[in-house]
Amino acid sequence: MKAKKLIEVAMPIKEISAESVRDKGIRQGHISTLHLWWARRPLPTCRAVVFASLVPDPLDDNCPKAFKDAIRDLLCSGFASTIYRPYKEIPYTTAEDSMEDNLRNRLLMFIGKFSEICQRNMLAGQNTTPKDQISNGSLIKWESKNDPVIIRTARELIWVAYNSEKYDNQSYEALSKQFDVAYSSILECESALYGITDRHIRTQNVIEHENALFDAISHFQDNMPSVFDPFAGGGAIPLEAARLGCRSFGNDINPVAHIIEKGSVEFPQKYGKPITYSKAKFESIYGEDGVTLLAEKDIPQLSSDFITIPNRLSFDFAYYAKKIIKVTEDEVGDFYPRDINGDKPVAYYWARTAVCSNPSCRAEVPLLSQFYLCKTARKKYYLKPVISGKNIQFEIHSGTAAQVEGWNKRGNVTCPCCGSVTSVEQLKAQSCTTGLKPRLIAIIGDSSNGKTYTLPTAHTRQILSHELHVEKPQDPMTRNSNGGDTFPWGFTKWADLMSYRQVNTLYTFIKNLNEIKKEFVFEEDYCNALKTYLALWIDRIAACNTSMGFWNSARETLERIMGRQAIPMRFEFPESNPFCGSSGGASSQIEWITRFIEEESPSPFSAICFNTASGEIEQFPEKSISAVVTDPPYYDAIAYADLSDFFYIWLKRTLSDTYDRVLATPQTPKNEECTALKHHHDGDYDKAKNHFENKLLDIFKAIEKQTNDVVSIMFAHQSTEAWTTLCDSILGANMNIEGSWTIDTEMQAGFKTNQDYLESSVTVACRPAERKGHARFKSIKSSIHEKVSQEVKTLYELGFRGPDLLTACFGKAVSVFGNYESVEKSDGSEVTVAELLELARASAYTALVRDFAGDDYTKFYIGWLQLNGMNDTDFDDATKFTRVGLNVDISDIFAANILIKDETARKQHLASFRERRIDGVRDVSDERPLIDKVHRAMYLWESSERNALLQYIARYGQDINNEFWRVLVVLKDLLPISSDDYKQVSGLLQNAEALIRSSKDAPKNVQEASLFDNE
Ligand SMILES: C[S@@+](CC[C@H](N)C(=O)[O-])C[C@H]1O[C@@H](n2cnc3c(N)ncnc32)[C@H](O)[C@@H]1O
Repeated sequence: MKAKKLIEVAMPIKEISAESVRDKGIRQGHISTLHLWWARRPLPTCRAVVFASLVPDPLDDNCPKAFKDAIRDLLCSGFASTIYRPYKEIPYTTAEDSMEDNLRNRLLMFIGKFSEICQRNMLAGQNTTPKDQISNGSLIKWESKNDPVIIRTARELIWVAYNSEKYDNQSYEALSKQFDVAYSSILECESALYGITDRHIRTQNVIEHENALFDAISHFQDNMPSVFDPFAGGGAIPLEAARLGCRSFGNDINPVAHIIEKGSVEFPQKYGKPITYSKAKFESIYGEDGVTLLAEKDIPQLSSDFITIPNRLSFDFAYYAKKIIKVTEDEVGDFYPRDINGDKPVAYYWARTAVCSNPSCRAEVPLLSQFYLCKTARKKYYLKPVISGKNIQFEIHSGTAAQVEGWNKRGNVTCPCCGSVTSVEQLKAQSCTTGLKPRLIAIIGDSSNGKTYTLPTAHTRQILSHELHVEKPQDPMTRNSNGGDTFPWGFTKWADLMSYRQVNTLYTFIKNLNEIKKEFVFEEDYCNALKTYLALWIDRIAACNTSMGFWNSARETLERIMGRQAIPMRFEFPESNPFCGSSGGASSQIEWITRFIEEESPSPFSAICFNTASGEIEQFPEKSISAVVTDPPYYDAIAYADLSDFFYIWLKRTLSDTYDRVLATPQTPKNEECTALKHHHDGDYDKAKNHFENKLLDIFKAIEKQTNDVVSIMFAHQSTEAWTTLCDSILGANMNIEGSWTIDTEMQAGFKTNQDYLESSVTVACRPAERKGHARFKSIKSSIHEKVSQEVKTLYELGFRGPDLLTACFGKAVSVFGNYESVEKSDGSEVTVAELLELARASAYTALVRDFAGDDYTKFYIGWLQLNGMNDTDFDDATKFTRVGLNVDISDIFAANILIKDETARKQHLASFRERRIDGVRDVSDERPLIDKVHRAMYLWESSERNALLQYIARYGQDINNEFWRVLVVLKDLLPISSDDYKQVSGLLQNAEALIRSSKDAPKNVQEASLFDNE
């Protein structure tokens, strides 16, 4: 019998969460900067999940000895002995707790460990800057991804784990030696090949060295596990699996995703390597421009005869991209007029206009929603309207604007000339019939002092108003059933989102790209890699080159289209100048790509990506894949195919010669996409849902056949419906959930500082199930309850909060449920997954309120405090919360002053004991909720009303173990230490015994008429 994999028993989720949050903010060189793709998983999460899906739990009885010896050698001795020593005191728990120094914990610390400074800060309740949170030896840290020691250690651990399971009785020493030989052979082959001068000419010698390297990599990977991601998207999971040395496979149905994957997980690792040219050859290929680029890239030309370029792929891509800019600017640069200083502007700031609906006015109103062009801490620039009759002009001023609110409030326009309102419906009608003519408002420039904002000159206006006659592409957009598209405004084709000038410019870039391909003098595969990056670069330019981006006045940046998963209508937009040197310009797009290539080039291991729909059982031989790690679409959250058509239409024009089959269809394929989008199913939600469920089930069934070990699935959708589908598919594919982990991606580390916990994903580790016949629901309820309670307790101690806590427990419940063929209710009907999840939810909630058997108001108060603290939360959270099996209406909660709405009624916070006094809770009869009684006691304690307090305790708190005191204990544990409430609660608890004693002699004649009757 094989040992369980680490992911089935333990994960350093707090550490992974911290680095994953940081990952979201990393830009330069990150996979997300190569090309837009939606819902990318953070790299630390992917690396950790892949690694933990491949190595056994060292404390498992069946763990091979060789693997345990590997941990002892690699993680417990020498330098590693201190680096990976488990925490003396777990820094992020409230409990005073140490971690045993055992092999499992060593392995967890290798995946991720908080740095010394972060540990100290956490214990002191202070924050640490994101980059210093995780210690330097940790596998998941951004800086570790190319660290030769850490990555080698991870690869060796996986090698030993894989081979010791495959071949019994192999010693660590023997496996380690084999690893050394195979690994060194790759390094030697690399240095031999990359040391050959002019290796771009594929002589016999070069080919032999290339083959030798190929063989060395193949031999290494033949002895490593294989990992498959059937929903590869932008490639984060295949990238990390390949980084760890595995044979890594990824499928994506979407051609755009597939091409991005080639650029992210195949080409840098294959071609992003050093090359040495003889000077003559270099000059013949690159000429003067090449020499300029060498200087720009700080590449020394030490020897007069040879030039060594550290990264051939990144250099060549930049070289050809720059050439394309040059020729394109020569052709269309004049359409982008310079500013009053003769400099190239960063962007031209436009506002669409509408004709006022008042027939006697008809002023042409710029649809500005606000007047600031720039609003940072350091500087402010705004537009000041100057209105004369129906003529609206602007001045630009620095400082604080007198008028902040614009004339356009979500499409409802108040005319500044006559005061009439044009409704959003009228505006849409105008947009669809006559259009909302854009008007040039300002010129955004760049100077040594930062961005500048000036009014356009007449000359600029004249150039920009010049109508170009190009034929726009006719490719239609798809209407999104989730909303967030421009159809109501009459923009129904992709090219409607661009002006004629923008389309013309893009066409010119594309024409020049296709021309320059003829100059490539390299072997075919390498040419394809270069063409791919140049096309991805054109996509980046296209994304900045629309009328649906926006100017971020707080950051002074041009934000491209589709930053989120929709295309909202924009009334004001910056038109980027592709020839400027600033963000949004074509040359700054080059750097995003070269940085990524350079970051991912050190590894010799690339992934193999297929542009295909998953679910094909024949794709891999039975049980030939070691592990599946994947991140399926989130139900109906993202319309991947629909959105990606924006890029597809340009990729068809740039890459059809390279990827003829991938780009064969007129648009991205929609029918086989595994999503639940009703607009792809005649507007029928049930059909869409069935489609998603059937697809997911088929894909999971295929995976179950292809995989011989763990299947790890990441899932971020919070709704019970989405969870039900996921679990149904897992169970339906004859798998069961063995471990489930919540990993936050937007959490501030530092549990003791009462942070908000926002977004997380759950990773479930599954295996083929061994079902044990039938069970009765009644009999398994208690074991579900127990598992869920334990999970809540563990996660809670690890600092997890929020509704995520609840969903994390679903996996636990399913793991019990999945042990049986079926589970029956007393009436003989089968329990559905939805019913099971309801039970899990109720169990989690019960565990959250610590099995407190009190009234629903008190449960609500405590549950809310656990989930949200005393912080402001969105109104939606309140409605969500009451769905958790409580018989109390949210309106009663507000009426009882337990939650207090803010002025806008969009947010609320939990009432402090003082705020409970405001009104509404007067009568503290025995029937009143316990929380009222506790708040009353806190009030009496604060106001030193000793007699009243003693009588009160005589009535409700005679027994130190009763619910009155238990609520106080729970509150003390949960309240922010600095709060007044905490002070009163502590005071009462510290004096509890004395108060109970004295209460026995307290006069009994005080009538309890109201909660705060001493006011
Ligand atoms: C949640 S995303 C994956 C994101 C990825 N983990 C990343 O970090 O970029 C899901 C992906 O599944 C792909 N997909 C949807 N249906 C598919 C199918 N039937 N076969 C293969 N891929 C599919 C989508 O195109 C999308 O890229």
